[in-house]
Order: sequence, then structure tokens, then C-alpha cells
Amino acid sequence: LVADAQAALEQCADEAALRAWNTQVFGEKGLLKNAMALLGKVPKADKPATGAELNRVKESLTAAYDAALADAKEKALQLSLTTNPLDVTLPGRGRPRGRLHPATQILRQIYTIFADLGFQVYRTNEVETDELNFEALNMPAHHPARDMWDTFFTTTPGVVLRTHTSPGQIHVMREAAGKPIRVILPGMCYRNEAISTRSEIQFYQVEGLVVGEGVTMADLKGTITAFARRMFGPERQVRIRSSYFPFTEPSIEVDIDWPKDDPNRDRLTKGTGWLEILGAGMVHPNVLRAGGYDPDKVTGFAFGMGPQRMLMLKHAIDDIRLFWQNDLRFLKQF
Ligand code: PHE
Repeated sequence: LVADAQAALEQCADEAALRAWNTQVFGEKGLLKNAMALLGKVPKADKPATGAELNRVKESLTAAYDAALADAKEKALQLSLTTNPLDVTLPGRGRPRGRLHPATQILRQIYTIFADLGFQVYRTNEVETDELNFEALNMPAHHPARDMWDTFFTTTPGVVLRTHTSPGQIHVMREAAGKPIRVILPGMCYRNEAISTRSEIQFYQVEGLVVGEGVTMADLKGTITAFARRMFGPERQVRIRSSYFPFTEPSIEVDIDWPKDDPNRDRLTKGTGWLEILGAGMVHPNVLRAGGYDPDKVTGFAFGMGPQRMLMLKHAIDDIRLFWQNDLRFLKQF
């Protein structure tokens, strides 16, 4: 019995075969159980010796089985290690990390600067009425200044995609209903222009509006100077040129001196050393009236800037189309 069982054990090639052998030898109807059953037929005097012998057989077969099982497991492990080599010293695969779009980053930078100056952020519609995009901004129907903005009209008469954030001025004034105002109005604008390195059909603007008693041009200049120095460096000088917008009077354009140590200075400023960063002015009395304010009691200033253009200036980016092309080579640099 022992010799046969041991020979059979040696034939077992893997764990499954070993387990089958185990059932055959030790199972309910296994060899050992059968041998134990025969014990009853052994003469009484021989019983203790036979019983002890059977126990020894059981122990030696159990030990042989345990050793064979451990051996089979070790072999299976070695096989899997050599056929599926795993180099635990290799660095792990990096997980790609998302990031904010550069346009969002520059917008948030602008919000932070104006928040420090006490401005709230106010958002208004991208789809606007002709009344607010033009009329309430001192441009009646057929006013030639409407040509300053190439407009996307919708199939609904009187409804346009806003060409600038300035209609937001009217929304704020009507909601603030006579109270003092200090807000910025960020958002997407749309213009029906040929797309080029310098112009896109959609782009962000950030509008600013301050209305209250005794607000002056000096407040406008101080606000813009503080902003320019936070955005472009504490040394920046601000230059004001007169300009024209229908909704401000007087109207200005604001330039900053470009750092002398920037190798792109001549190209960016066309040799002048000055670069335009925004348009602004004192809110026109007609606009205050359209917003429900009395121009005899309050004054205000407004400005409008292109945040993407600011980012382009800061990083010498020469093609505005990069913003909406979703080219990771561009986006990953911010
Ligand atoms: N809305 C003007 C534009 O889009 C910018 C501007 C805003 C000018 C506010 C003056 C005051 O060009």
C-alpha cells in the first residue's frame, strides 16, 4: 500500500494531480479509510501493533504529500516568474495631470488683482439684444459707430451675439438701481471678422465699471496704473491717449511702457516702446441715463481689455488662434 501510494505521488505533475491523489489516499472512500475498516478483522492481540503501523503509514504519507505540494507550488511560482518577467524596479507609469486653460489662468489673475482693488465679478449674457449691445450704449440704429464692431446677427430680429462686454454695464446699473457700483464683467465676445494671427471670432473681454458720486478720470488712471503694475511689473509707466468710443466721454486708450530688457520689445511696440493694453473713458451721460442713473448726481468710468492679448504680451505669443486649437504642445506650457 505504502509503496504504491508513494509511486503514484511521484507521478503527480502539478497541484491539481496532487489534490486528486490526496482524495484517493485520505478521502472518504480512500485507501487509508479502507485499511482502517479492515482493522476490525484483525485478531484482538494484533490490533494495537497494526493500528500503530497504520498511523505511521498515515503520517509518512501525509509528510510526503505536504513536501510534494510545497514543491509543486514553488515550481509553479518559478515558471510564472520566468515566463511573465516583472521588473519591480521600473518606475511606474505617470498619470497625466489636467490643468487650467491659459485663458482661464489669465482671467483668474485679473480677477485676483481687481478683487484686491475692491471689485466684484459680475457676469451677463453672451446673447444680447440690439438695444443693450448698441442703443443703450449711445448708438441709435444706423449710428456709424456701430461699424466699429463686426456683428454676428441671429435669425431673431434684434438679437445679436455680444460684440463686447459693454452691454453688461447696463445690466449692472439696472440691477444696482442707483447704488454705487464697482465691478468687473468678464466673458466671451463674438465678432464677425476674418480669423488671423491677430483676431478670432470669439475671445474674452474683461469690462470694468465704477459709478458713484465724485468718480473722476484720476480714479480711472489710478485704477489702471495699479492694475498694470500688478500685471506687468511694479516699474510700469502708464500713458494715456485720447480716443473715441460712443459710450464714454472723454474716451482714452491706455499704453504701458514695455520693459527695456525684453528682446521682443521692438517687435511688440513697433519700435515705440509703448504698448496699448485697453480702451476706457468716463461713462457717457446717455449711458448713465439708460442704466437708470442721474448724470447730474453721479459719474463713472469704464474700461475694456482683452485678457488673451495680455497673456500674449506677457509670453510673446504671436498667434491668437493658438487659444482655441487645443494643441497640447501649446497648452502644456502654462
Ligand atoms: N467696448 C470697447 C471695445 O470693445 C472697450 C471699452 C470698454 C472702451 C469700456 C471704453 C469703455 O472695444
